[in-house]
Amino acid sequence: MAKERIISPDYQHADDPNSAVSLRPKNLNDYIGQADLIEKITIALEAASQRGEPMEHVLLHGPPGLGKTTLAHVIAAELGAHAFSTSGPALTKAGDLVGTLTKMQARDILFIDEVHRLPIGVEEYLYSAMEDFKIDFTLDAGLHAKVITYRLQPFTLIGATTRAGLLTAALRTRFGITHSLQYYGLDELKVILHRACQKLQMPQFDDEVMISIARRSRGTPRVTLRLLRRIRDFAQVRAAGRIDPQVVHDALQLERIDELGIDELDRRYLGIIGTTFNGGPVGVEAIAAAMGEDVGTLEDVVEPYLLQIGFLARTRQGRKLTGAAIDHLKLNLTKNSSDALDVQDLFPSSSP
Ligand code: ADE
Repeated sequence: MAKERIISPDYQHADDPNSAVSLRPKNLNDYIGQADLIEKITIALEAASQRGEPMEHVLLHGPPGLGKTTLAHVIAAELGAHAFSTSGPALTKAGDLVGTLTKMQARDILFIDEVHRLPIGVEEYLYSAMEDFKIDFTLDAGLHAKVITYRLQPFTLIGATTRAGLLTAALRTRFGITHSLQYYGLDELKVILHRACQKLQMPQFDDEVMISIARRSRGTPRVTLRLLRRIRDFAQVRAAGRIDPQVVHDALQLERIDELGIDELDRRYLGIIGTTFNGGPVGVEAIAAAMGEDVGTLEDVVEPYLLQIGFLARTRQGRKLTGAAIDHLKLNLTKNSSDALDVQDLFPSSSP
């Protein structure tokens, strides 16, 4: 179990701050899914420990809720090391890192969430820490200023980001292991649900209930576990603790989550493209302005899942609804309907 030295929220309860029970895996064996990544990490951990070295720096990217923070703490546990957690926006100046870097012991983990939001001054300060395990700091000022080079204990930086594209090449290339986390399959989510039921001392559900929760989870363990807690509350208060497909349906209808996991924010997003912009194409900035939302929230939280389930297409001209989304939402579009999505328009990797 990792010895926690936390400089931001407590990992054990971060999955639900009100819960006494952590549903997060504690070691690599308990970590479900992301098989390629787990294999890479297992090899890197073993190779590093055979050589008596720290593990290489790791960059994890992917949508929120797929287990980036969880994995960082699991790696610390496997190393029997401390995990120090912080995030890009929390570090406003290089000095904010000095205390932590100088406290870390050999093989400890420094986890920086939202690493793409590190101010450039902090990022540049990290380069020598990452590469040579040393930092410079200045003592005194003016005429008497003296630069001291401080040797750090060899550590592993784990950076997490929802936007790998926003990292500078200089930072990205300093990570020895880079991996993009994938959405989880239904079977993987079912195993996560099964384990969570055990930890929460809930009765095991039948397969139909498991699948109906997994289907609504947007391929995301954090969503699965949140839905499970809402269903548990609903069942306890409204159904004498009974959990069957009808109770799951009623509980999630109250949360306004449909059978594909589409929630209120998705519906507003899809609805605005469908009604205000007649199905698209439309730029994400225009959608964000019409919704009163932040572009980053749409790009990080809403769009990845809608792209994944084929409800949204990113074209040269902008975002477009697909026929599947129009059917699902029962939208009535007028002219230039997105039904006529032209495959040659598809331009998945750049945002207009
Ligand atoms: N809980 C949340 N994410 C998990 C994962 N990937 N494996 C096991 N339990 C989890």
